[in-house]
Amino acid sequence: MILRDKVAIVTGSSRGIGAATAKLLAAHGAKVTVNYVQNREKGEKVLDEITRAGGKAILVRADVTVREDVEAMVKKTEDALGAVDILVNNAAIHFPVTSFLQYKWEDFEKKVLGEMKALYYPCQVVVPGMVERGAGCIVNISSGLSRVPGPGFVAHSAAKSALDGFSKSLALELGPRGIRVNVVAPGATDTDAIAFMPKEMRERVAAHTPLRRFGQPDDVAGAVLFFCADYSRFVTGTYLPVCGGNQMS
Ligand SMILES: NC(=O)c1ccc[n+]([C@@H]2O[C@H](COP(=O)([O-])OP(=O)(O)OC[C@H]3O[C@@H](n4cnc5c(N)ncnc54)[C@H](OP(=O)(O)O)[C@@H]3O)[C@@H](O)[C@H]2O)c1
Repeated sequence: MILRDKVAIVTGSSRGIGAATAKLLAAHGAKVTVNYVQNREKGEKVLDEITRAGGKAILVRADVTVREDVEAMVKKTEDALGAVDILVNNAAIHFPVTSFLQYKWEDFEKKVLGEMKALYYPCQVVVPGMVERGAGCIVNISSGLSRVPGPGFVAHSAAKSALDGFSKSLALELGPRGIRVNVVAPGATDTDAIAFMPKEMRERVAAHTPLRRFGQPDDVAGAVLFFCADYSRFVTGTYLPVCGGNQMS
C-alpha cells in the first residue's frame, strides 16, 4: 500500500495503459479518478474491478482537451476523494498513420494541439493546489517515437516531443515547490490504439526486442507506479522508455 490515502487522476483510464495504471495505483492504496470521454461502459468495468478489489475510485466523463471538462473533473475528484496528489496525463489523442506527403494540416494540428491541451489543461488546473500543499507528482505518458521516429508517425512524434519538452520545463519550474514531473515513454504496447498492427508485425517486433516479447499495459503501469511512489522521491525531469530494451537511454 505504498500510495495509501493518495488521490490520483489518471486521464483516459477506461481502456489500455490508463486502465492498467488506474487499477495498479488503486491496488497500492490510491483513491483514483477513472476518466473516459466516450466509453462509459469500459470505464464502469474499470471502476467495478477497482471497487471489487477493495479500492476506492470514481468514474468521471471529461474530454481532457476541453478546459471546462477538466475543471469539472478536478472539482468532482476533490469533492469525492480529496485534494489531488498524483496526476497521470495518459489520454490517447488519436491520429492517422500516414506519410508526411499525404498528411493533412487539419489532422496534424488536431493531434499536436489535442496532445498539448490534454497536458496543459490538467496541469494548469491541478498544479495550483499542489503548489499550495508543497507536494505533488505528475507523470506524462509520451512514446518511444518522441525520440526515435517511425514511418507514418510524424504528427505523433512531433506531439510527444513537445510533451517531453513541456515536462522538463515543468520539472524545472515546479521542483522547488515540491512537485516532481516525469515522463514514461512506452514502446508498442498491446492496446486498442495499435489494433491496426498485423499479427506478423507484432511477432517481428517481439523477436527483435531484447526482452523478446510485446509490451503489455501492465508493463507501463509499473513504471508509472514507480514515479508516483516515494521510492522515486529524488527523481524528476526524467524520461523512462518502457519497451523491453528496444530503446536504451
Ligand atoms: N499503445 C501503444 O503502443 C502506445 C505506445 C506509445 C505511447 N502510447 C501512449 O500511451 C497513452 C495511452 O494509450 P493507449 O494505447 O492505452 O490508448 P487506448 O487504448 O486507445 O485508450 C485511449 C484512452 O484515452 C481516452 N481518451 C481519448 N481521448 C480522450 C479525451 N479527449 N479525453 C479523455 N480521455 C480520452 C479513451 O477514452 P474512451 O474509452 O472513452 O474513448 C481511452 O480511455 C497515450 O498517451 C498514447 O499516446 C501508447
